[in-house]
Amino acid sequence: MVDHKVCIVTGASGGIGSRIVEKFLTENYDVVMADLKLEQIEEAIEKNQFERERIMVCPLDITDENAVALGIKEIITRYGRIDVLVNAAGICGSYDRIVDYSFENFRKVYEVNVFGTFLMIQNVIPEMLKREQGSIVNFGSVSGMRGYSFEVGYGSSKWAVIGMSETVANEYGSQGIRCNCVSPGWVNTCMMEKTIENYRKLGIEDPENWISYGSIRRPGEPEEIANAVYFLCCDQSSYINGANIVVDGGMTIK
Ligand SMILES: NC(=O)c1ccc[n+]([C@@H]2O[C@H](COP(=O)([O-])OP(=O)(O)OC[C@H]3O[C@@H](n4cnc5c(N)ncnc54)[C@H](O)[C@@H]3O)[C@@H](O)[C@H]2O)c1
Repeated sequence: MVDHKVCIVTGASGGIGSRIVEKFLTENYDVVMADLKLEQIEEAIEKNQFERERIMVCPLDITDENAVALGIKEIITRYGRIDVLVNAAGICGSYDRIVDYSFENFRKVYEVNVFGTFLMIQNVIPEMLKREQGSIVNFGSVSGMRGYSFEVGYGSSKWAVIGMSETVANEYGSQGIRCNCVSPGWVNTCMMEKTIENYRKLGIEDPENWISYGSIRRPGEPEEIANAVYFLCCDQSSYINGANIVVDGGMTIK
């Protein structure tokens, strides 16, 4: 077993995922970059000049039960331990009013956001239990908490992830494993651009001004989300378990 900490990040080449990888590298973790395609991961490593020796490249579809089990086995073969799992992989699917929202799209969104997150957790927990320690961070969204229009599949899938995080926290808190959720508001990534574009297609005029950024009045930057994720995995948050940390610039203030 290696003597330094190891973190798995799914969706590791995405807008937020790549900043999470960077943060954990800075904090002296070795990082497993899990994402759909090898090329995406390689591109992210190049673009961000991540230190290759401290990265394990892990092309993986989190919705594939066998691939997830195999991936975790390979990680254990290389490192012998998993300290942190960050489930950042997610898709928003296509956007439509409920009456036009295809069931196929609904199902696809759940496969990635809910079932994929579940499969990763299910396969990582036995490894964390061996050392009776570990931290898991999942991704919810303000969309799930506030029921954004036109994304019934995405929003409700994120609400499911918030609930799943509480279940994990309840079942394993007494055995040294904490599980929390981060729910961003709007974050400056291509997912946000896609959402705004789709609002426009659905007839929302001036969608940039239609959406609310909260009292900070700007979208969040991926680094700001990565900082919250890291906080939930380090010793400073040792008593936080089953929480949904909303990182939204004040958007959900009542
Ligand atoms: N950007 C936002 O405004 C925002 C707001 C709230 C929540 N979120 C959540 O934050 C997380 C990261 O979002 P992002 O903005 O970085 O999105 P992104 O699209 O930039 O990154 C998502 C990553 O997930 C990967 N992925 C998709 N399906 C996968 C699968 N089946 N297996 C493995 N990897 C897969 C993609 O390849 C991509 O690299 C997501 O869970 C998203 O729902 C984002």
